[in-house]
Amino acid sequence: MLIKNALWITLKGAESTVNPVFRKRFDCGKPVREAALEVTCDGVYEAVLNGKRIGNFILAPGWTEYRKRLQVQRYDIAGLLSGGENTLEITVGNGWFRRTNAPWTGTKNPDEFLPPMLIAALHLTFEDGEVKVILTDGQWEAAESTVTRSGIFYGEDVDMTRTPAFRAAEVCEYSKDILIPQEGPEVREQETILPRRSFRTPKGEWVIDFGQNMTGYMAFDLEARAGERLCFSTAEVLDKEGNFYTANYRSARSKLQYVCREGKQSYKPRLTFFGFRFLRIDEAPEGFSADQVRAIVLHSEMKRTGWLESSDPMLNRLFSNILWTMKSNYLDIPTDCPQRDERYGWTGDGQLFSRAGMYLYDTRHFFRKWLADMRAAQWENGWVPEVIPSLTAYKPGGAGWSDAVTIIPWNLYEAYGDLSFLSDMYEAMEKWIAYVPTVSTTPDLFTGCWTYGDWLALDLPEDYVPENIELAKRGYSKDDLVCSAFYANSVQNVIRAGRLLGRDVSGYEALHRRIVKAYQARFNGELNTQTEKVLTLHFGLTDDPQALADALAQQIRDCGTQLQTGLVGTPYLLHELTRYGYAELAWSLLLRKEYPGWLYSVSKGATTVWEHWDGIKPDGTFWDDDMNSYNHYAYASVADWVFGAAAGITPAAPGYARARIAPHPDPRLTSLSAAADTVHGKIRSAWTYTEGGVRFEIDTPVETEVVIGGVSRTVEPGKYVFWNA
Ligand code: BGC
Repeated sequence: MLIKNALWITLKGAESTVNPVFRKRFDCGKPVREAALEVTCDGVYEAVLNGKRIGNFILAPGWTEYRKRLQVQRYDIAGLLSGGENTLEITVGNGWFRRTNAPWTGTKNPDEFLPPMLIAALHLTFEDGEVKVILTDGQWEAAESTVTRSGIFYGEDVDMTRTPAFRAAEVCEYSKDILIPQEGPEVREQETILPRRSFRTPKGEWVIDFGQNMTGYMAFDLEARAGERLCFSTAEVLDKEGNFYTANYRSARSKLQYVCREGKQSYKPRLTFFGFRFLRIDEAPEGFSADQVRAIVLHSEMKRTGWLESSDPMLNRLFSNILWTMKSNYLDIPTDCPQRDERYGWTGDGQLFSRAGMYLYDTRHFFRKWLADMRAAQWENGWVPEVIPSLTAYKPGGAGWSDAVTIIPWNLYEAYGDLSFLSDMYEAMEKWIAYVPTVSTTPDLFTGCWTYGDWLALDLPEDYVPENIELAKRGYSKDDLVCSAFYANSVQNVIRAGRLLGRDVSGYEALHRRIVKAYQARFNGELNTQTEKVLTLHFGLTDDPQALADALAQQIRDCGTQLQTGLVGTPYLLHELTRYGYAELAWSLLLRKEYPGWLYSVSKGATTVWEHWDGIKPDGTFWDDDMNSYNHYAYASVADWVFGAAAGITPAAPGYARARIAPHPDPRLTSLSAAADTVHGKIRSAWTYTEGGVRFEIDTPVETEVVIGGVSRTVEPGKYVFWNA
């Protein structure tokens, strides 16, 4: 990469919050055949050549494990060059690099104290074969830009009346060893949403409703006098009274404040993003109207591969909400939520939604980069941080979250059949399972360590008084059980991967046998919570799964056909019920319209999946201000069951080289249709209740085992109709 010859530059003496803009003016003098720009920064940038934005990558260079890896973008800029003088301007905002740590993390990010810096290389090849290279150095200029402040949580303040006063940039020292070519898919503008309505709230505030919770930003056109202001705040929901509600953003300010220049103008934020459905217009020039505003949706560039449709409008809304929640949170990294002061790559959330996500979009490119960051962030001792890119302090343990290091590569291999996900990650997977015994207090189990348990489970006994609120959020499943079950699973994933890679896994096989034995001796006599049962079933830790599944089904019915599982148990719950003959009960949980149930939020008008089943309670009040995201994909993981069990599409061989279609229809619906565009072509499974029985339509590009009504048959590629009276 040419960029390694360039120098890091900064704005000398910049002390204010104003984001710097770097400038290079150059004359081509003769016709150019090819022109490329390599560029990156310690923040996020927007590069403009002769007044036109370079490339479509929003929030470049994206978020990586910056201390080790910083992506460099390469743009073809030939089309933007002028034969005469050219002006290249690059504005650098704080982005994820600096000031990433929300106050609640209690840790200071060392990068926070670095100044905004840029490094770039321009490569010009002229028609006559001459080559010219322009590198960032002390000859570049820098100034305070029109962006007077920006940040991922902060939003953006812009003053278009400012004229940047350029002076020489300052060369500074910073690592070039961390520079790597762009790996992930670009974050791009994906669609535009127009206001659904605008109105005055009971408090008298002026609010625009886009009708859809999303991740992106607002864009607007207006004609104004210099100095007039246009200010927006963001919200996901309105409160009980119909007022604008921002408390769940916590310390994320999430506003745009724009000072107009004279005349006609258009703007959209350049260096930040928001999670929102509603915009409050806090200030606007006289005559400004809501239809001058639109919302632009951002997410990582991925190919859509999954579609679901049913005869039930509420279920269809849930499917849409799941899709939107994925779009909102696959923004360069898999985030927990896009709005409050987190937006972090929580590994637990990432792994538990990953299978659902792999049906809906082709996530290979997206995860390849994130897993590389996971490897880079993994500690020497094998510990995998709870958020990737990492920022939290070390806490021994982390089961269910850190186990993403074995779960996601395995899921990718199953979904796409690409062994390189396993070979790339094998060492990291081994390191994680080798780490467990170094912190566990019991041989062959994972005990005595920190865990988020079954985060947000609903199974606390009424008389249980937790020592603190954090404990209350972890549910009632035994920490040691949750950790040990995930440990067993991770060892199993290493064994499976090792076998495929031709490694000697005999030691791991012996370890796995010991873990199962120790687990059964220690826990199987007291599998109390729903999640304790589900994990024991899902990870194959009982010798009598049917009896355990029977007990699980009974327990669910005994508490009024309600799930009580949290983040860890929920993704597997419907699968385990279905596997052991309780598909009807699984459907009852999915179709439940009351709290806690998937259709409850739909009945409350949700357009994305909520963090809490009762983010908005039946009486319209909120679960809490503190941790209440309305765009959280943990419970959206149920799409994996809809595709894989309700419609019944699963890979029979990795990557769907062969398929298995075993649908589980339910008469509470008239029809369900699912399509999954696999690397071997599009598979479709649909069922319809008719007077003559259930009609199954199957369309498969690969040899497929079809299981209907307990009868299995193997079919060649083609379209089929089956009936089940
Ligand atoms: C996040 C979760 C995450 C959790 C860790 C929360 O604040 O939003 O989804 O997994 O912290 O327990």
